[in-house]
Amino acid sequence: MEPAARKKPARTPTPEAPAKRTRVDRDSVLFALGELVRREVDLDALLAQVIDTVTKAMDADRGTFYLVDRARGELFSKAAHLPELREIRLKVGQGIAGHVARTGEAINLSHTEGDPRFYGAIDRATNYATRSMLCVPVLDRAGEILGVLQLLNKKGAAFDDDDEALLRALASQVAMLVESTSLYAQLRAPTGGPLRYRFNGVVGGGARMRRVYDLVTRAAGTDATVLITGETGTGKGLIARAIHYNSPRAGRPFVAVDCASLPATLIENELFGHERGAYTGADQRSVGKFEAADGGTVFLDELGEVPLPLQSKLLRVLQDREFERVGGRKTLKVDVRILAATNRNLEDMVARQRFREDLYYRLRVLSLAMPPLRERGPEDLEQLAYHFLAGFAQRHNKPVVRFSPPALARLHAHSWPGNIRELENCIEGAVVLSVGDAIEVADLPLPADPRELPPAGRKGGRGAAADLARLSWTEMEKLYIEAVLAAHDGNRSGAARAMGIGRATLLRKIKALKIRA
Ligand SMILES: Nc1ncnc2c1ncn2[C@@H]1O[C@H](COP(=O)(O)OP(=O)(O)OP(=O)(O)O)[C@@H](O)[C@H]1O
Ligand SMILES: [Mg+2]
Repeated sequence: MEPAARKKPARTPTPEAPAKRTRVDRDSVLFALGELVRREVDLDALLAQVIDTVTKAMDADRGTFYLVDRARGELFSKAAHLPELREIRLKVGQGIAGHVARTGEAINLSHTEGDPRFYGAIDRATNYATRSMLCVPVLDRAGEILGVLQLLNKKGAAFDDDDEALLRALASQVAMLVESTSLYAQLRAPTGGPLRYRFNGVVGGGARMRRVYDLVTRAAGTDATVLITGETGTGKGLIARAIHYNSPRAGRPFVAVDCASLPATLIENELFGHERGAYTGADQRSVGKFEAADGGTVFLDELGEVPLPLQSKLLRVLQDREFERVGGRKTLKVDVRILAATNRNLEDMVARQRFREDLYYRLRVLSLAMPPLRERGPEDLEQLAYHFLAGFAQRHNKPVVRFSPPALARLHAHSWPGNIRELENCIEGAVVLSVGDAIEVADLPLPADPRELPPAGRKGGRGAAADLARLSWTEMEKLYIEAVLAAHDGNRSGAARAMGIGRATLLRKIKALKIRA
């Protein structure tokens, strides 16, 4: 928080308030926000920066972003210039911000004094004098009020209509930002829960991912080579970008090379460039990825596919940051950070002499294993599912906002061998097929429920039993209860009878297992 924000402003506005103020360039503020989104991994830090950017751009003294906590009928400050208090909580309808949260109408006050809606208790608690105030609602795609963006004390004058228009534009940016995170899903979830996540398009705050974020944060501060491993679709590419954009090299290029998509002869060309006349058709000199990335990061994706001869050239780059262009004699030196990813078991490849051992050790200075989706726990799965639901509903212009309980149970029952990519594709397909506001089981492009298939109906004898065996006992129990409840249209007495347990027992389990019934 800026120390300047502590200063207590004069209570009376300066009489010779300049009529003309520097107009903020709307596009540049929006662009600045876009940049922030790309760089921040931590949502709280991101929102704090957003508030800073907006407040500064609009020449205000303080800014606050409130979120609406529906379950409690309250607003709480999610990011604020608020050195004095840890958090502000208001009832919906209380104070100016609470009023905006209730009505969805913006409020622009040149003088708070005498306005009955103004809630003076916060000023008293913070010893801050609020004179002018501009408060706009933050609405989601469906037009529901997600939160409130509030600015206090325009420097030199009161806020005008142009300010209001700009703040509204910024509010819709903030809404999109929040909607693209798991924060949004959690806000909509009836259970609420602690609001802590990481960001940068990286969704999921479970224990496995928290360990990944820790490593990303630590790795980002260094120039160490990082080897990212994990099954296909687990987010290796995404994490590589997060490392780069959180490192001191963020302002320099991030250059990704997909080693699997190019034939061996071309990878070398792609990585190191070539001199004119290096081979037939090479009538121009070309710059390779390592040169293009100078000062930045090179991401060697699918590194396990690199053929042995090229591996030795890579080793040299890793050791000395030196190489020659194809057909060239001059040794070039570059300053790059190297990240690599593979879904292959490199250790195994080393044992089979398909991968150079020395290169392997050079690469895995830091290694980061991305967890498969099925090991990330039910909460991450739901956060991701809602994250993709929101994105695709917007993209395909569909009114869908939720999963029916059986559809959610079906998502939990699947083992996701293709991990997040598979989930992403599955949700997109379901959104396209969906009618109305909920995704139903029938919309999900998944094989029939494993529990309804005879084991013989699945290939190789794995299948239903294997799928179930991946679940923990609690997950099984939860699925079972959700399915029976769904079959009884949510009627708990009927479901309890069908399960052969008492209604009180069922209610206890619903609560303990956090079943949304
Ligand atoms: N934690 C996450 N939050 C949101 N989206 C994610 C997350 N992890 C992955 N994705 C999305 O899932 C898809 C697959 O991710 P990515 O391409 O990074 O996986 P990968 O591990 O590199 O896969 P492959 O080995 O097949 O290259 C991408 O569209 C990515 O944006
Ligand atoms: Mg990838």
